[in-house]
Amino acid sequence: MESRECINALLTRRSIRKFKPEDVPFDLILKALDIARRAPSARNWQPWDFVVVREKEQREKLSKIHPWAKYAAEAPVAIVVLADSQRAPDSYMIDGSLAAMYLWLALHCLGLGAVWLHTVPAADTVRQIINAPSHLYPIALFAVGYPDEQPPARPRKDLKEIVHLETYGNKLK
Ligand SMILES: Cc1cc2nc3c(=O)[nH]c(=O)nc-3n(C[C@H](O)[C@H](O)[C@H](O)COP(=O)(O)O)c2cc1C
Repeated sequence: MESRECINALLTRRSIRKFKPEDVPFDLILKALDIARRAPSARNWQPWDFVVVREKEQREKLSKIHPWAKYAAEAPVAIVVLADSQRAPDSYMIDGSLAAMYLWLALHCLGLGAVWLHTVPAADTVRQIINAPSHLYPIALFAVGYPDEQPPARPRKDLKEIVHLETYGNKLK
C-alpha cells in the first residue's frame, strides 16, 4: 500500500529554526511524545525518556551548550531525548535515535516545527541542566514551536553515489 500522505510527511520535514512567538499547547507535545514512544527498539526495551523544557531560564541554559544550539532559547519548547545505557547497553544510542526521529516526524505531522540540536559535545552539561543521572545519555535536544519559515529542502546525495548492488563498491549505473 502506497500512501502519498505518508511519503509527503517524510519528504516535507525540515529543520525549523524560526518560530512564531506563540506557545504550543502541552497536549500537542504529549500527542507527539505518544507517537515517539511507538518507535522500534532492540528487544522492545524502549530505553528512553523525554524531558519537556518550557521554562525560559532552563531553555536559555540549554541554548548555550554550543553556538548552534541557540534555537532552544528562541522556541517556546525544548525536548531532550534521553537513552538509558543501563537498560540497553548495546543499543541505547540506536534506540534513542529512533525515538528522536519518530518524535521529529510526529511534531512535523502535527503542524509543529523542530530542529535537532547536537548534544554529543555537551552531554554532561545537558545532563546537569536537566538533572539527569549519568546512565541516561542525552541523544538529542529539540527546539520546538510553530514554524515561522518554510526552508527549501537541503541537498542530498544522489542514489547513484550511495546504493551498492550485492557488494560494496558495485554502484548503481
Ligand atoms: C545528530 C544531529 C545533530 C544536529 N545538530 C544541529 C545543531 O546543533 N544545530 C542546528 O541548527 N541543526 C542541527 N541539526 C540539523 C541538521 O543541520 C539538518 O538536519 C541537516 O542540515 C538537514 O536539513 P533538514 O533537517 O532540513 O533536512 C542536527 C541534525 C542531526 C541529525
